[in-house]
Amino acid sequence: MDLEQKENELKSSIEPDRLPGHVAIIMDGNGRWAVEKGLPRQEGHRQGVETVRETVRCSSELGINILTLFAFSTENWQRPAWEVNYLMSLPEKYFNSELPDLVRNNVRVNLIGDDSKLPARVRKAVNEGAEATKNNTGMLLNFALNYGSRFEIVMAVNKLIKDAVDGKIKGKINEKEFSKYLYTADMHDPDLLIRTSGELRISNFLLWQLAYSELWFTDVYWPDFSRIHLMEAIKDYQVRKRRFGKV
Ligand code: FPP
Repeated sequence: MDLEQKENELKSSIEPDRLPGHVAIIMDGNGRWAVEKGLPRQEGHRQGVETVRETVRCSSELGINILTLFAFSTENWQRPAWEVNYLMSLPEKYFNSELPDLVRNNVRVNLIGDDSKLPARVRKAVNEGAEATKNNTGMLLNFALNYGSRFEIVMAVNKLIKDAVDGKIKGKINEKEFSKYLYTADMHDPDLLIRTSGELRISNFLLWQLAYSELWFTDVYWPDFSRIHLMEAIKDYQVRKRRFGKV
């Protein structure tokens, strides 16, 4: 069976009414993919952008409501300057070539993370993407950039304290109200978390929001992650029994 046939078969075996509404992905293994091929690490990231393109297109075609991609963590600043600079050039490259497609495919772009520390060119690229797609009603595409979950929770607590001091909060707050202070306010939590490259950890990604998500790990490096892998993850999700603590 060739790849196209396999892809079509997988696609038609996915149950459209049991799709994960929100898929979050930790895109890992770009560096190792490159090094194992004797290439510079940048090549892995460059190829990683191609995978982002395909993953976004495929998720939107399948009817996923929200796709959240971990593109740069608050810890990634500790990489060598040349690598940070290269990673910071990618949103611009991606939107320059992909924005017309995102608009056409009704995808809405959003940034989650502390954008105040991002270079102006990154903010500009993502903001332009968000502005151009703000009236779209299809898939919401979150780019997590300079994102760290503990930072997000502490930020939320500080906003809450301010609102309390300003008299905007009466009495105690509950989980639902707390969620509104996070970057993901008004979004439902991820149903499915995918992490590539064989690492079995969460790495400070959406710690609050992943409380009841189904986790799916693959040894495949992000540049090799294909539509087929995405659909396999979704198929696997569709046979899981989610009990949310109940029996
Ligand atoms: C992890 O691989 C990947 C990253 C830190 C960056 C992920 C970014 C992309 C895939 C491109 C983002 C695209 C846009 C449009 C913003 P790694 O470098 O940690 O790999 P390693 O663990 O093998 O070294």
